[in-house]
Amino acid sequence: MTSNKPHIIDLPKVTDPRGNLSFIQNSDQIPFDIQRTYWIYDVPGGMFRNGHAFRTQHEFIVALSGSFDVVLHDGVEEKRIHLSRSYYGLYVPPMTWRSIDNFSTNSVAMVLSSTLYDENDYIRNFEEFQKLSCNEK
Ligand code: TYD
Repeated sequence: MTSNKPHIIDLPKVTDPRGNLSFIQNSDQIPFDIQRTYWIYDVPGGMFRNGHAFRTQHEFIVALSGSFDVVLHDGVEEKRIHLSRSYYGLYVPPMTWRSIDNFSTNSVAMVLSSTLYDENDYIRNFEEFQKLSCNEK
């Protein structure tokens, strides 16, 4: 069982000369029920999203267009994952510090979330995150 660690999940890909098609449906491809979808687009060159972690929220991130890097930290080590295709995505469990940078021109990052938007679920301070994640281990 790897679903409690960040990992890449391949999505179905229906190849077609008219254009390929991929899909995600509750909750066959990803290990949570989807409550919310948001996307990040029109990112100016060199811009990055500040890091944060979620107390309870699970996420699945797909590069719908272009590419970017998701930088993950579990409280001990950092990993950089480059997402560049729309037929796979990155599962990010709760209590994972993550930031996004290195956006290519016209990239679109789609994020599926297990919860409705809740500012109280965010941990925005890395030191607080490290303390909490240490206590969990
Ligand atoms: P946020 O998740 O804080 O992005 P980042 O940490 O990368 O800056 O989102 C930025 C703002 O967008 C946040 O202050 C509130 C709003 N927002 C919503 O209203 N609903 C959502 O689902 C998300 C993701 C953000």
